Order: sequence, then C-alpha cells, then structure tokens
Amino acid sequence: MRARLGLAPGVMDPHVPGVMRESPRSQNDLATRAGLPEALQVLVRQYPRDIWQSHRNFDALTRFWLERHLMFRQLLDRLRGETETLLDGNAEARGVGARTSRLTGFLLGELHGHHQIEDVHYFPVLARLEPRLAAGFELLDSDHHALDGHLHDLADSTNDLLRAIVDGQQAPARDAAGALQARLAGFEGFLDRHLIDEEELVIPTILHHAPRF
Ligand SMILES: [Fe+2]
Ligand SMILES: [Fe+2]
Repeated sequence: MRARLGLAPGVMDPHVPGVMRESPRSQNDLATRAGLPEALQVLVRQYPRDIWQSHRNFDALTRFWLERHLMFRQLLDRLRGETETLLDGNAEARGVGARTSRLTGFLLGELHGHHQIEDVHYFPVLARLEPRLAAGFELLDSDHHALDGHLHDLADSTNDLLRAIVDGQQAPARDAAGALQARLAGFEGFLDRHLIDEEELVIPTILHHAPRF
C-alpha cells in the first residue's frame, strides 16, 4: 500500500493486481442487478434474514463478519458527512482533508483485506459445502473485481480533493468535494448491493451446514 500523488499520506492505493474483469450487463452485473437471481435464492428462502440471529448455528464469527459489513457502511456515511460539511461551508478544509484521508485509507485497506480473505478462504469452503450456490460465490468474487475498479476511482477522487485543499484553492476544493460526493454515492450503491447479496448467500449456507473455519 502506498500513497498516491505524494499529496495524501493517509490515502491508499487499493493496489489490485491483475486486470479488471469485464462482465456483461445482465442480472449478474453488480451495476445493474436488483438482487440475487432466482436460482441463487434457494437457501435464503429457507433461512430468511429475520431468523438469522436466533438460529443455533449463528456463531461469534458470523456475527463479527456481519459487523464488518456494518462498519463499511458506517465509514461511507462518515465520509459523505465530511464532504457535505465542506460543501456547506461549515468546516475548516484542512481538518476535513485530514479526516477524509484517514477514513478513506482505512476503508480501502480494510475492504481490500476483507475481499481477499473471502475469495481465498471463505468462498471456496462454502461453495464446496453448498454446490447449488457455487455460481453465487463466483458472482461475489466477480463483484470484488468490479468493486476494486470503483475503489481506485474513489482513491483518485479523494486525492483530487486533498490536492486542492493542500494547494489552498477554495473553488477547486468545492468542485472536487462535489465530485467526491457523487463518487461516494455511486460506490455506496454498488457496495450495498454486494453486501446484501453476499449476506443472503453466506449466512444461509453457514446456518444450513455449520462449517468450521
Ligand atoms: Fe464481499
Ligand atoms: Fe463481505
């Protein structure tokens, strides 16, 4: 991990190896799908969200994993709040820059690590246990590649803002804050779609098979 542009020490490059996968715009595409395809809802119909926490196979690791998802959502909320205060003219720009740099660096690093452990450790085990949902775990892996591209864009927009703040330019800083705000809103939509669908594949599989990781 390294800072980009040399201007934003807290902002990290997601540094995703390889090339982004292109996927057809379809019901499987993170940017366009409205939920899991019908065939991949087979277990979540049996284990709906409202029974998860009371099920005997809902363990501490599962709770921790869901809390990570909540943390990602909260980090995005905080980042949106920071850029909003700048756009409203209610905050000192360098303070916003420092907090935005720190929060974005943390979000990018944590998300990258989270995706890696899911792809390498959790998804292969779950796909073997539940072959009916194997295509779903491949879908989630593809989502991670798509999200990597959005993380790069988010890092770029954040660094544009930080550079304008460091340069002390008010109008460019406002423009960059507006662009970052739009980028955050788009990213939030993609991430939310991914997290919901992932939870609806992973948790029912865990409840059904009670794997030991
Ligand atoms: Fe994921
Ligand atoms: Fe996840």
